[in-house]
Amino acid sequence: MAFAAALTGEAARTPQASDLLFEPYKLGPLTLPHRMVMAPLTRSRARQPGNVPTLLNACYYAQRASAALIISEATQVSMQGQGYAWTPGIHSREQIDGWRLVTDAVHEAGGRIFLQLWHVGRISHPSLQPDKMLPVAPSAITPAGEAFIENEKGEAELAPFVRPRGLQIEEMPYLVQQYARSARNALAAKFDGVEVHGANGYLIDQFISSGTNRRSDAYGGSIENRARLLMEVLEAVSEVWGPDRVGLRLSPLGSLNDISDADPEATFGAIAQKLSDFRFAYLHIVNPAAAAIEKGEAPGARAQRMLALMRKKYRGTLIIAGGFDHDTAEAWLEHGKGDLIAFGRKFLANPDLPDRFRTGRPLNADDPSTYYGGGAKGYTDYPSLAQERGERPKACVDDRWR
Ligand SMILES: Cc1cc2nc3c(=O)[nH]c(=O)nc-3n(C[C@H](O)[C@H](O)[C@H](O)COP(=O)(O)O)c2cc1C
Repeated sequence: MAFAAALTGEAARTPQASDLLFEPYKLGPLTLPHRMVMAPLTRSRARQPGNVPTLLNACYYAQRASAALIISEATQVSMQGQGYAWTPGIHSREQIDGWRLVTDAVHEAGGRIFLQLWHVGRISHPSLQPDKMLPVAPSAITPAGEAFIENEKGEAELAPFVRPRGLQIEEMPYLVQQYARSARNALAAKFDGVEVHGANGYLIDQFISSGTNRRSDAYGGSIENRARLLMEVLEAVSEVWGPDRVGLRLSPLGSLNDISDADPEATFGAIAQKLSDFRFAYLHIVNPAAAAIEKGEAPGARAQRMLALMRKKYRGTLIIAGGFDHDTAEAWLEHGKGDLIAFGRKFLANPDLPDRFRTGRPLNADDPSTYYGGGAKGYTDYPSLAQERGERPKACVDDRWR
């Protein structure tokens, strides 16, 4: 393709023989055609009422089917697990049917898709909870910040977080069951696997991190106890899918959603080591050096140490997400820092990102004002290279998908 571009005189990067990004990768039972994963991206466009995926969502994902692997937007495992307006769930029959539209469209377009399983814990609001109940958390500590909710006019609104209810130990098996049921539902919806969302300050991360977990029972205190929910969830989900179709996302050194840990190196080092005993599909790390590399700066020493620690302790496939462009992704693969690289905002704005990287063509810029909520604008209308060349849009954007 770069050669075609060269023939037509278009400015294009010549792919190097050493382009690791475009080497195939064996991920458990899946063979990925290259190493560019689409990171999970919440877009808040599920049908209301019921938080049900639609044909529009199917179109969006099918447009991005050239990713090595799509990881879906975070998807609540229960009504209790919801923290943002209009996000999809995987706990009702309608939602399973809705997701089936998505998986069919992605598979028809030649892609692979994992579902990201999500419980937000305290990062919610009574208006999103069943019977307007309090959000739940390991401990009753109010997060700083605001929840993204729907007001009476049906518009998005930010509302201060409330003090969550600390979970009783008797409720813990019920939480694990929410994940197990969702994993079964994901199987019924014909996903290729699931990713447990253990990152970004949501429920599992709230249990892992000492700043949000003040429990004195079997789920608090020692690292082993704080990681108990994570391990129970992974075990339950693996029973449904087999471990080689289960991934996990973590965000060591993350601070999103007011999360903090007193000793992240000890906490996440021990967790990564423990995870190595199981043959999971992958560990997916939110890059603690994302901001630095995006600015073209060298990662800070602490981020570098954490990344090296994760690589050393976890002896399986490592995906890294955050702040990458073509060259930094290639460099990180070359230096063996990860096996696969996930791209978020670039995939959001460039449905054919792998082709653009292969050919060195310019990228569409993403529009943050259309990230969350709304319809096709800023969702399915980012142009592909083929459309820019005047070709007919792919089937996904014709009437079949409306
Ligand atoms: C609009 C938007 C929505 C996101 N939604 C999720 C999500 O649902 N689950 C998740 O784990 N991360 C989510 N993230 C984080 C991304 O997966 C990714 O880690 C982040 O965008 C950094 O990668 P990038 O620099 O390539 O964009 C979101 C990011 C953005 C910009």
